[in-house]
Amino acid sequence: MKINPYLIHSKPYFIAALFARRDALQAEGRDVISLVMGDPIEPTYPGVQQATLKALEATPVSQYPKTEGSLAYRQAIADWAQRNYGVTLDPKSEIVSANGSKEAIFHLSFLFDWSQGQEIWIPSMAYPVYEGAAHIQGIPLRKLPLSEATGFLPDLDAITPEQWQRCQLFWLNSPHNPTTAIAGRGYFEKLLGLAEHYGFVVCSDECYNELYYSPEPPVSALEFDSQQLIVLRSLSKRSHMTGYRMGAIISRNRELIRLITKMRAPMGVGTPDFIQAGGIAAWNDDAHPKAFAALYKARRDRLVSALEAKGFRVFGAEAGFYLWFSHPDYSQSDPLYEAFIDTGLLLAPGHCFGEDGEGYLRMVYCITDAVTDEVVKRIGQLQLP
Ligand SMILES: Cc1ncc(COP(=O)(O)O)c(C=O)c1O
Repeated sequence: MKINPYLIHSKPYFIAALFARRDALQAEGRDVISLVMGDPIEPTYPGVQQATLKALEATPVSQYPKTEGSLAYRQAIADWAQRNYGVTLDPKSEIVSANGSKEAIFHLSFLFDWSQGQEIWIPSMAYPVYEGAAHIQGIPLRKLPLSEATGFLPDLDAITPEQWQRCQLFWLNSPHNPTTAIAGRGYFEKLLGLAEHYGFVVCSDECYNELYYSPEPPVSALEFDSQQLIVLRSLSKRSHMTGYRMGAIISRNRELIRLITKMRAPMGVGTPDFIQAGGIAAWNDDAHPKAFAALYKARRDRLVSALEAKGFRVFGAEAGFYLWFSHPDYSQSDPLYEAFIDTGLLLAPGHCFGEDGEGYLRMVYCITDAVTDEVVKRIGQLQLP
């Protein structure tokens, strides 16, 4: 028996390693608040629970769900896109349901032929699932450097025509985890122009778009009518539904959607219909993501002030619920990471997301007001080494 070498040699998911540290600290009796996982701890939008329970009660016979999702679920997404982005999507041929976006990200690479050495491109610091999906299938991966100088977005001008020719799948994540960088309209236009020229597909991973703190929402790939584009949306963050596992794969390229549906049928990833009923309630309501965003914005402001008072530089933070920051006197993450542990706060050192993250830290703030009070207090007590 020969096991996939990636499974044998790869490091555990970084969150698991951080949780192991948390557990070890707690076993020593240390009081530590974990601020490492983007998993909201406040209640799910109540309409979701009500709709899910109602659907369960109305369904004494439980049958296999459709791979592509119920038409009602896909219609709710089309209606949401129309209301929020003014775009008309055909629910039957342009939308497929997904169990959150994680599994869809992982599975999308099965769509393409990699036999000619084509590559998956990802930002050098990224949500680790893009990389895991490439490695498990042995697909060549190119990491595009991110730095303060490029606003933590891949520099499209730094790539040569020969390199572009090898790109088959380009992962764009805006607002970006972990740096919170947001790609503007011009960035999308340029990237989609390149995608059309060189024939690659842009996968736009957009799970943080509806939690934003600037007057205008972040640009979404949904606003572009391109055949080279696949958009992933998720209810996890905007509706506090990480436990439900609900999202969508959207593309104007109907042939891609047809093949994605075909590819996903044997995977058994159809979402249970009663969960989709909850999802419909979430997509149908535009008010609760705004209400959640208002709460996060207030917490962000308090945490940013506390960090700045200690001399940290906080980047972006105009969307999502992460703070990405560094300190001008430190080029390594670990001394800062340990100092935060000493004050009772567990954060993610930036290098967890890739080498370019060295020197930075990421803190989540999908926490309650009471926890925010305590975190602000502990930041005030932080002793830098
Ligand atoms: C950038 C990014 N994409 C996708 C996901 C997956 O979210 P979900 O599968 O819950 O939709 C996350 C979760 O943290 C994320 O940060």
